Amino acid sequence: MNISGNTILVTGGTSGIGRALAESLNDAGNCVIVSGRRQSLLDEVTAGREHMHGVLVDVTDPGSVTALAQKVRTDFAGLNVLIANAGISRPENLLDEAWTPDDAEAMVSTNILGVIRVTGALLPVMANQSEATLIATSSDLAFIPMAAFPTYCATKAFLHSWLQSARHQLRRAGVEVIELSPPYVQTELTGARQASDPRAMPLGSYVAYVMDCLAEKNLPRGELLLNDASGRRFAERNGVYEAMFAAMNSR
Ligand SMILES: NC(=O)c1ccc[n+]([C@@H]2O[C@H](COP(=O)([O-])OP(=O)(O)OC[C@H]3O[C@@H](n4cnc5c(N)ncnc54)[C@H](OP(=O)(O)O)[C@@H]3O)[C@@H](O)[C@H]2O)c1
Repeated sequence: MNISGNTILVTGGTSGIGRALAESLNDAGNCVIVSGRRQSLLDEVTAGREHMHGVLVDVTDPGSVTALAQKVRTDFAGLNVLIANAGISRPENLLDEAWTPDDAEAMVSTNILGVIRVTGALLPVMANQSEATLIATSSDLAFIPMAAFPTYCATKAFLHSWLQSARHQLRRAGVEVIELSPPYVQTELTGARQASDPRAMPLGSYVAYVMDCLAEKNLPRGELLLNDASGRRFAERNGVYEAMFAAMNSR
């Protein structure tokens, strides 16, 4: 994709990676539509910005996604980039007597079906454009799971596989498909503590890295990984998978 001149919709644009990316892309000369469930944050993100719009969407609600598609067709018919980024993460302890599949269902509905619903709803609009790009946010945990987050990691492994098939199919329609696999980044994904966890990458540094990769088209295999994440990406091939799994799951 070109780094400017696009009409871009970002799901999960009210906070964290989605918001920071939306702001950087707007600064770079794109019309950006941010979406999420919190109107107050949509208002905050779009305030004082030209060519930045907010749309309330719950990606777990098919009716809400249909309404989004109708709005896009009416108001943003030139949409050519979708960043399917909305996601949630919850730990699960399968041995806890209080454990139920409820959190797992919520993560599957948001992280997997949310991406598929929004892609299905907006692809017909994007496929009409001369250049179009689908970006979806997986995680470097797609490659080696953190065992305390079993369903979360599995949703991201699902996306890694699904995006390969989507990339293969959509090449015929000229739609580029990019997998964004963030490392551990300072956002509130797992709660307020993560946002200041010194082990996590500062949000500004991560989004600056993403913008550089997009601008330079530094996207091997259509994947946008942090350099040192390629250790996880190719752990099996490099014969270090079990050692890395053990190091990540020492407790
Ligand atoms: N931060 C990390 O360490 C990290 C690492 C790897 C991957 N990721 C991925 O990066 C993406 C963004 O996460 P983040 O770290 O930026 O966390 P975040 O700040 O919590 O952002 C999550 C975003 O998703 C939106 N969202 C959640 N459920 C939604 C729903 N049902 N419908 C519509 N929007 C919904 C939230 O907006 P509303 O609450 O307003 O709806 C929010 O804007 C996620 O897919 C996450 O899995 C993050």
